[in-house]
Amino acid sequence: MFTLGKQFTRRAAVAVLSASLVAGALAGCGNSDTGGEPADDGKITLGFSQVGAESGWRTANTNSIKEAAAAAGIELKFDDAQQKQENQIKAIRNYILQKVDVIAFSPVVESGWDNVLKEAKDAGIPVILTDRSVDSADKSLYKTFIGSDFVKEGRLSGEWLVNEMKSATGPVNIVELQGTTGSAPANDRKKGFAEAIAANPNLKIIASQTGDFTRAGGKAVMEQFIKANPKIDVLFAHNDDMGLGALEAITAAGKVPGKDIKIITIDAVKDGMQALADGKFNFIAECSPLLGPQLMDLVKKVKAGETIPQRIETEETTFTPEQAKAALPNRKY
Ligand code: AHR
Repeated sequence: MFTLGKQFTRRAAVAVLSASLVAGALAGCGNSDTGGEPADDGKITLGFSQVGAESGWRTANTNSIKEAAAAAGIELKFDDAQQKQENQIKAIRNYILQKVDVIAFSPVVESGWDNVLKEAKDAGIPVILTDRSVDSADKSLYKTFIGSDFVKEGRLSGEWLVNEMKSATGPVNIVELQGTTGSAPANDRKKGFAEAIAANPNLKIIASQTGDFTRAGGKAVMEQFIKANPKIDVLFAHNDDMGLGALEAITAAGKVPGKDIKIITIDAVKDGMQALADGKFNFIAECSPLLGPQLMDLVKKVKAGETIPQRIETEETTFTPEQAKAALPNRKY
């Protein structure tokens, strides 16, 4: 009895072990009920395609996303597109192949995303737009867009100028440094600013060109503006970095930034705020890069199948030199 029982137990143990090995192998190869999908282990993988590293704002945005992913326990696959749309499309296709749980990206330009967004939708991978939006008519191609109201930022900048120049009796010549051509912030900030300054016919944009959101671009284009235009009263730069580059060109031309040429920028990163506090800039409309924590929260909700709003707007403010002085000691980026 004892021997028989021992043989039976050994055979049973072998059978159980084989069954569990087969089950384990099947789990490793995918689940036949879900057409070969990996079993859901509760972990979340986020594929994020970043625009590039063109500005102080972008660096702060990248840091915010990386830190928030680590804090939320989300595995982050990160790609820097170096300001090229084709690199972003390639990165998104890779994330689809890798079957990440959620894809998020900050589109370098507004147009040309429909095909790749459809591919993600067909693969059942939800997409979240951060910072910049797309002009796709089909809003079902992405779950939400979290970021600033760029038209408002341009409008607030223009309204400040209208008030500042309310007693001007002659023409006020404005030059504009635009962001990356075709990008949402460049299109929208231009629009908002133009609409606001229309309130005073003395305010005229005499030159407008892209500086690609970089310091080098801002400096080079401002040099050309100064050469071509003997009287420049105001610079409207679509971000701090271009404004900071332009400062060098203005100073090199023997003019006093903030006085001879009034400077309005957008972002409010530390270097921009310092220039404002020093009186070299005159006004900044804030654009917050700290989108990471909110993005991770949304990623978790989307993965859990929760409904989220189609548009989530970032809270922002504006700064005068006095306000910049007060805010600088606590400015994190
Ligand atoms: O999309 C946000 C803009 O992109 C920021 O204003 C600018 O600094 C960045 O490069």
